Amino acid sequence: MSTIKAPSTTGYRRETRLVHAGTLRSQYGETSDAIFLTQGFVYASAEECEARFTGDDPGFQYSRFSNPTVSAFEQRMVEFEGAEAARATATGMAAVTAAMLAPLRAGDHVVASKAMFGSCRYIVEDLLPRYGIESTLVDGLDLDQWQKAMRPNTKTCFLESPTNPTLDVLDISAIAEIAHAGGARLVVDNVFATPLWQSPLELGADVVVYSATKHIDGQGRCLGGVVLSSQAFIEEHIQVFLRQTGPSLSPFNAWVLLKGLETLAIRVRQQTDSAAKIADALAQHPKISRLIYPGRADHPQAATVKKQMHGGSTLVGFEVRGDKAGAFRFLNALKLVKISNNLGDARSLVTHPATTTHQRLKPEVRAELGISEGFIRYSAGLEHPDDLIEDLHAALAQA
Ligand SMILES: Cc1ncc(COP(=O)(O)O)c(C=O)c1O
Repeated sequence: MSTIKAPSTTGYRRETRLVHAGTLRSQYGETSDAIFLTQGFVYASAEECEARFTGDDPGFQYSRFSNPTVSAFEQRMVEFEGAEAARATATGMAAVTAAMLAPLRAGDHVVASKAMFGSCRYIVEDLLPRYGIESTLVDGLDLDQWQKAMRPNTKTCFLESPTNPTLDVLDISAIAEIAHAGGARLVVDNVFATPLWQSPLELGADVVVYSATKHIDGQGRCLGGVVLSSQAFIEEHIQVFLRQTGPSLSPFNAWVLLKGLETLAIRVRQQTDSAAKIADALAQHPKISRLIYPGRADHPQAATVKKQMHGGSTLVGFEVRGDKAGAFRFLNALKLVKISNNLGDARSLVTHPATTTHQRLKPEVRAELGISEGFIRYSAGLEHPDDLIEDLHAALAQA
């Protein structure tokens, strides 16, 4: 792994690190980060080339292994998250796959919360068992279930919090304690919380993964992901896995994500304020039978939200009366808010999880997870909250 690093910004506050961490200026002294859009690197001599490959020379070799722009993004994430090391990936799913698969081998066992993004559930439930890695899915809110599921060969516990899409908030420090007592690591998918509002490593998690496609880009432009952990975990497991299997982040996308990080704090704060206003405006609406917002006093895990999150959420979950037909009438009547399966964008986006992100699950599994046919996931954008509330109210009138 390249060891060329920009000067540390860890003496500064987090917002400052989002703007400056990782910036390594070229000889031209450019203001913004440069893009090193190159597959590889050339060497002054065969000896220098050999030294790069032995690791005696810390320079770059090939952009599948590492790249200056990708390294800058990794360093900015490391200093913002407070991790020791990170590796960026082509997508969020590449980050989840690497964090789960790279350190495991046949005969190992995984315990995971059953409420998670459909593709993450596929990794745990379908992919890992094909290679002899057994998994147990538990109700992530029930600590007894975590405890009972642990086996002598349990190596990884995995959760996301708040969960996608029903916004349950799992007790990360309590689950980390159970994992560690059983000799396992805890991997947390922190996408819904964002790195601004929740720091899983401080709560005892060992590995944090992000889909950078969401709030880190924040403007719906490119896919990306990142795995953050200790230096040892990244070097021993993730670096080798990515280098040899190849889901590396493009330098161009790393540059877009670097730009996204510069504005992450102001965007996420504004989107969270907006989501909170929208949640309050919709909570008592007669066409809505259930509303979930981490940050409202009526959230089922309000005490855990207070304990482990520094802010609410940019997402609101609610159930429109009238099942799928009611939900579809509502979605089709929206003018400003766009129908999508993404989240964390500058534009407000709505998703119908039962027919999109969680469509792969059997109806009874969706029902068990609270993903009803009327359930909507709303991701607040940067529009004026009053325009959004008017659009949502007008569409609910037609639901
Ligand atoms: C919680 C969660 N994890 C991982 C991912 C995967 O991210 P990507 O689409 O960047 O592969 C998503 C995408 O929706 C997600 O919501």
